[in-house]
Amino acid sequence: MNPDRTGIRMVDEVIRHLTAALSSAALYAPEHPKVDEHLGKLVDSYRELSRISSELLIARVEDELLYQGKPLVKSPNVQRLTRLLNQQKIGFVRFSPGFSAGELRQMIKVVLGKEPHPSLEQMTALIQVGSVDAPREEHVEIARFADLTVDERNRLQEQFDRVAEQQDLDIQQITSLAAGFIAAFRREANPFLALVPIRMQDEYTFTHSVNVGILNIAQGMGLGIEGQILHDLGVAGMLHDVGKIFVAREILNKPGALTEEEFAKIQQHPSRGAQYLMNQKDIPRLAIFTAFEHHMKYDLTGYPQPPAGWQLNLCSQITMISDTFDALRTRRTYKDPWDFSKASGLMLNLAGKQLNPELTLNFLRILAHNGEALESFDDGPEDQRVKEEILGCSCSLENPLCG
Ligand SMILES: [Fe+2]
Ligand SMILES: [Fe+2]
Repeated sequence: MNPDRTGIRMVDEVIRHLTAALSSAALYAPEHPKVDEHLGKLVDSYRELSRISSELLIARVEDELLYQGKPLVKSPNVQRLTRLLNQQKIGFVRFSPGFSAGELRQMIKVVLGKEPHPSLEQMTALIQVGSVDAPREEHVEIARFADLTVDERNRLQEQFDRVAEQQDLDIQQITSLAAGFIAAFRREANPFLALVPIRMQDEYTFTHSVNVGILNIAQGMGLGIEGQILHDLGVAGMLHDVGKIFVAREILNKPGALTEEEFAKIQQHPSRGAQYLMNQKDIPRLAIFTAFEHHMKYDLTGYPQPPAGWQLNLCSQITMISDTFDALRTRRTYKDPWDFSKASGLMLNLAGKQLNPELTLNFLRILAHNGEALESFDDGPEDQRVKEEILGCSCSLENPLCG
């Protein structure tokens, strides 16, 4: 996924013409012929770029611009564009092939703050700008956070065993674990250090569930969510895959590709999980929604196939991001840590399609802030199961733009 030099050079060219157009539009007017001149050059350089990559997504994380997850060198043009995006609280700009000159000009007006964001949305889907104006806690510092204690681990494992044995769940236990994570993060901890590092095959659902709960809380805190909803986010994360307990272990643990029939069984886990949770006492509504919706995908192309116009719960969308990250993160065995640029590149490519773009940027901001725990990792063989279950396709993980 590392963008090659040619790609970066072309993106620099696009940015050069974009900032020139923005400067002229600010100095004269967006309709000025000088602006047209720069926009014409922008279109030319975009056309060149689109030979190697069909769309261009530039994301802003804090004061950095990312292209395919990698920070661009801070040239004067990159800095100027970053500043303008920052002023308008724009988190990303995405160009898809086929946009018109009028749409470009409208985008210029939006980036200069002369028109509101929705004015562009009403006009086109080919150029998108996304805002990241969620409040967040500025003062979170990084400190060491111990792994799950033996006691916490036992309590949670017990709950999963109860589900497996079709007994009633003790929601108190799960809630108190969520409370424990929240308290730990408040003590200025790095949530990424709390993730369960080693996934043994038979513990897949267990460790993954804990991780998704932790990541949900981290995201929620990053969005400024507090109180009961924050707790529920953690609980929903821990219970999102509870339906997998009803899928045969041989299927869940099968190392190779799944047959159609087996995949269909796995696809039942959201509704099985939601059904199970509905029959339990005191389960937060968010957890039931999340169990049901967490594979529907932001663009509603996932499963179970929702009816047209379905509105995804925010918690489900947060969980999709935690779920994807944890699946990608652990697709290699043992403790392979993450390379920030590769991780964020993969997530960014899914943003706006399988994942909510604003929430993805919020997540990447948290990742960037906790970046010291993340190191580079080698390129190992891809995990077919992750591709099937998380990306819902069998294309290359290096290019998850399929479908
Ligand atoms: Fe799932
Ligand atoms: Fe999951």
